[in-house]
Amino acid sequence: MYRDKNCGEISESDIGGILTLSGWVFRWRDHGGLVFIDLRDRSGILQIVFSPDVSAEAHRLAHSLRSEYVVRVRGEVRKRPEGTENPDIPTGMVEVYADKLEILSKADPLPFMIDEPKEVSEALRLKYRYLDLRRQEMLENLIIRHRVTKNIRDYLDREGFLEIETPMLTKSTPEGARDYLVPSRINPGHFYALPQSPQLFKQILMCSGVERYFQIVKCFRDEDLRADRQPEFTQVDMEMSFVEVDDVIGVVEGMLSYVFKETLGVEIESPMERLTYHDAMERFGTDKPDLRFDLEIKEMEDLARQGSFKVFLNALDSGGRVKGLCGKGLAGLSRKEIDLLTEEAQSYGAKGLAWIKIKDGFESPITKFFPEGVLREMADRLGAEQGDMMLFVADDEETTLSVLGRLRLSIAKRQNLIRNGFRFCWVVDYPLLEWDEDEGRFQAMHHPFTSPTDEDIERMLNEDTIDHEGLSSLRAKAYDIVLNGYEIGGGSIRIHRPELQKKMFELLRISPEEAQMKFGFLLDALRFGAPPHGGIALGLDRLVMLMVGAESIRDVIAFPKTQKAVCLLSGAPSPVEEKQLRELHIKLDIIQ
Ligand code: AMO
Ligand code: AMP
Repeated sequence: MYRDKNCGEISESDIGGILTLSGWVFRWRDHGGLVFIDLRDRSGILQIVFSPDVSAEAHRLAHSLRSEYVVRVRGEVRKRPEGTENPDIPTGMVEVYADKLEILSKADPLPFMIDEPKEVSEALRLKYRYLDLRRQEMLENLIIRHRVTKNIRDYLDREGFLEIETPMLTKSTPEGARDYLVPSRINPGHFYALPQSPQLFKQILMCSGVERYFQIVKCFRDEDLRADRQPEFTQVDMEMSFVEVDDVIGVVEGMLSYVFKETLGVEIESPMERLTYHDAMERFGTDKPDLRFDLEIKEMEDLARQGSFKVFLNALDSGGRVKGLCGKGLAGLSRKEIDLLTEEAQSYGAKGLAWIKIKDGFESPITKFFPEGVLREMADRLGAEQGDMMLFVADDEETTLSVLGRLRLSIAKRQNLIRNGFRFCWVVDYPLLEWDEDEGRFQAMHHPFTSPTDEDIERMLNEDTIDHEGLSSLRAKAYDIVLNGYEIGGGSIRIHRPELQKKMFELLRISPEEAQMKFGFLLDALRFGAPPHGGIALGLDRLVMLMVGAESIRDVIAFPKTQKAVCLLSGAPSPVEEKQLRELHIKLDIIQ
């Protein structure tokens, strides 16, 4: 027998009992007469004391213990002497006087100490991930992730959802990233694609009459990686039949309320705020706004036109925009610091950054271009006061909004304006299509199975030709859910009528042959009685990252990959043997 109880469970009610315990030597101290160790298992840590008065043999052996040895001890639980209690840990009132010690496994000197994570590079942590995961913080992340998936399953089960697995060896799906390909040995020259999402299969399950499907599922995308992106990640993927936008939103809000309450004890606001895509872009410069602070981007065209600042007027005359933002508390910036801020704006794509400090009056090289009354109106609109600095960007619409959106975030961080808590919102009313300059054609903004709004369906089916402007103005029944500035999920009501799906491919300039080759199985399924349906996928890694307050999704994934898509633990990806390639009918000719 290795243990009577777990270390972290021992309390004053165990005093006097003789217990066997097993775990790792977390810390050890040799205090002359006595040897102390903190014994750690998954449940927590417990102080063990080795005294020659209790067992000379155990005491002698205890001198050879080192960090992360695995041991079994037996001993009596005693109350700690007064003054030696540790109120910081749950077992801090007691200790175990060991009469037996057995070393189950030794440990080499460690590449880093388990209790000093901050000084360790992430590369080292990932290489020795098993040691990294021994840290309390990492273990807790895994536990919360487990609780979240368990609570999601409980909730969706109660709501009548069936968890159904879909293939990993499949065909390319249309999420728009590059595929991971797997060669087929049995079919030379043919490849499976790992799914970017179960999109097509879940729609087919609706055609099968499943009505409510979900899956907690790995998805694979070969794209540029960032702190919130991994090549393989997990979706909470859902699809429902006979639903409209509000039904899907209702289920997701119910699920998230349950998950936050059960996992963290946190009540979240529901119904959640909804923003249209247009408003999100105009007010926050992004479709994933962080609403934990204010600082809204404001329209400045009318006021800019009342001045004579050429930069503004030229931008407006060439069809551009002028918008502004309040630099809260930035009136004290030196010229050098303003230059740095301007460089920051330029790194986001701006040509420059216009600024006006509000001290006792307005201070800026550009105040001379505006009447005093206009300057006051600018300040009013931006909510800028004494001590603030007004910031303006004039450029084409996309640049103006995205630069100010990024400055808004960076100023909030720098000025400490971000409130604690979880701020959700839905972004709705997305455009159906977006123009792809490089390809010279429209792309689906969400994916090509997303339904247009009812009135736009009529337009698409009834109007012979729709011009560029008309196509840009089509709206989708698509929605994203955003938490604290991260897109944690996205979905849509789908097209369920084959003629509309055909039309959609036509607008995307996907030929009938190409559509049949890529998505034929879905198009076929739509022909035999497809229910109206829709769904969503939440990014589980991002959700858990935000719930535990981690900086990167790598901290909530047991075995993540680096920014270069490498697994430092296993060494994947790696070259393979000639023989394996031959079996796959593949000859390598690597093009650098
Ligand atoms: P979408 O492509 O928006 O939708 O993906 C859904 C959610 O998955 C998360 N996500 C990622 N998380 C980590 N690493 C990545 N590389 C990554 N890519 C996406 C995001 C995102 O919101 N089939 C549709 C859903 C639907 O229409 O039902 C889809 O996959 O949080
Ligand atoms: P200039 O006329 O280039 O000397 O610029 C005068 C001020 O306007 C400087 O502070 C520039 O950073 C700023 N500026 C230049 N271009 C823009 C722009 N597109 N939007 C906002 N400010 C700009």
